[in-house]
Amino acid sequence: MNNEIIEKTEFYFEYTQSLRRDFHRHPELGFQETRTSGVIARELGQLGLEVTTGIAKTGVVGLLEGGMPGPTILLRFDMDALPVTEETGADYTSESAGVMHACGHDGHMAAGITIARILSECRERMKGRVKFIFQPAEEGLGGAALMIQEGVLESPSPDYALAFHLWNGRPVGWLGITSGPIMAGAEIFNIRITGQGGHGAIPDQTIDPIVVAAHLITVLQTITSRNVSPLQSAVLSVTCMQAGDTYNIIPQQVELRGTIRVFEKSVRELVVGRMRQICAGIAQSFNCQIELDVQGLTPPVVNDSRVTQAVEKAALKLYPAIGIDWQFRTMVSEDMAFFLENIPGCYVMVGSANPEKGLCYGHHHPRFDFDEQALGYAVAIMTGAVFELMGI
Ligand code: NI
Repeated sequence: MNNEIIEKTEFYFEYTQSLRRDFHRHPELGFQETRTSGVIARELGQLGLEVTTGIAKTGVVGLLEGGMPGPTILLRFDMDALPVTEETGADYTSESAGVMHACGHDGHMAAGITIARILSECRERMKGRVKFIFQPAEEGLGGAALMIQEGVLESPSPDYALAFHLWNGRPVGWLGITSGPIMAGAEIFNIRITGQGGHGAIPDQTIDPIVVAAHLITVLQTITSRNVSPLQSAVLSVTCMQAGDTYNIIPQQVELRGTIRVFEKSVRELVVGRMRQICAGIAQSFNCQIELDVQGLTPPVVNDSRVTQAVEKAALKLYPAIGIDWQFRTMVSEDMAFFLENIPGCYVMVGSANPEKGLCYGHHHPRFDFDEQALGYAVAIMTGAVFELMGI
C-alpha cells in the first residue's frame, strides 16, 4: 500500500503541479473564488465524486464512498488568495492585479484534488468515505464558520478531520506534527482613548490622548512580559494607531487596534482581564476615558492525540527518514480550528522552503513561493493518513 501511494503520487506529480500553477495564475479573494470552485467541481466530478457547490458562497464538497463500511474522514483545503501584488517573477505569476496566492492555498487545493484522484482509484478497498471540503475565505473572513453554519458537518457527519499547511519557515522534507495546540487562537481589539483636544502650544488646558496612548501601549507590553508565565505563550500586538492630523492641534481621540494570540483559555482570560484593569487604571491616572472592545476571531487549533498518532505513523511508513518536529507550534491562527472544535483531527505543517532555489520568503510576502516537491509529501502523507484511520 505504501509503495503504491508513493508511486501514484509521483505518477500524478505533473498533474498536481499543473493544477497548482493554474490556481496560482488565477488567484481569487475570499468568498470570490468562483473560477477556482469551478475548476475544483469539474475535477472532482470527473473522478466520480458526489459534488456539492455553493456552500458558504464558493465552497465545494466532494464525497467519495468507499467499497466497505467505515468512518467518514473530512479532508479540508483552503481556497482563497490575498490582496498582495506578486513579485516572484515566476512563469506562472498571478494574472490578477493586486491579488496573489501568497500563502500556498493554491498548492493545498492542487494536493486535495490529487488525493481525491488517488483515493478514487482505490475506492473499492476503502473502508468508509472521504468528505473533501474546499473552504473559501480562510484569511480571517470566516469561511469555516459559515460552512459549518450551512451544515457542512452533517449528512454524513465526519468522525475525523485532517488538513495541512505548506510551511515556508522550514525546508522540504520537514513535518510539524504536534499533539494538542499547534496554532494559536486569535482575537482582535479596539481601544478608544478620549481626552480633551486643544492648542498644541497650550497643553495644560488639554488632556492629551497621544501621551495617554504612549503610556498605555508601553504598559500593555507588561502583560506578556510580567503577567503571563514564562512557560506559557501569549502575544499582544498593537498594530494600528490613529491620532491627530497636524502640528499644532492636540487631538480629542486616539484609536488603537491590535491582536491577541493564545493557546489556552485561561491565558486568554488573564490577558483580557489585565487589559481591562490597565485601561481603567491609565484612564483614572490621566483623567480621560478609555474604551476597550475585544472580539474573538478563531479558537486555537488543537490536535487530537489519537488522530495525530495515526498521521505520524502514516508519515513514517511512507518516509522512514523524514524529519518530524513533534513540538512545532506557531502563534499564527487558522480557520481549521472551527472544524477541530467539533471533530477530533490533526492539522499538519509540511515544510516547503528551498533556500538554494530562492524559495524561502515567508507566507504573505510578495515573493512568497514554495518548492512544489512539498506537494508530493502532502499528497502521500494525507492519503496514507486516510488509510491509517480506515485501518487499512
Ligand atoms: Ni494560509
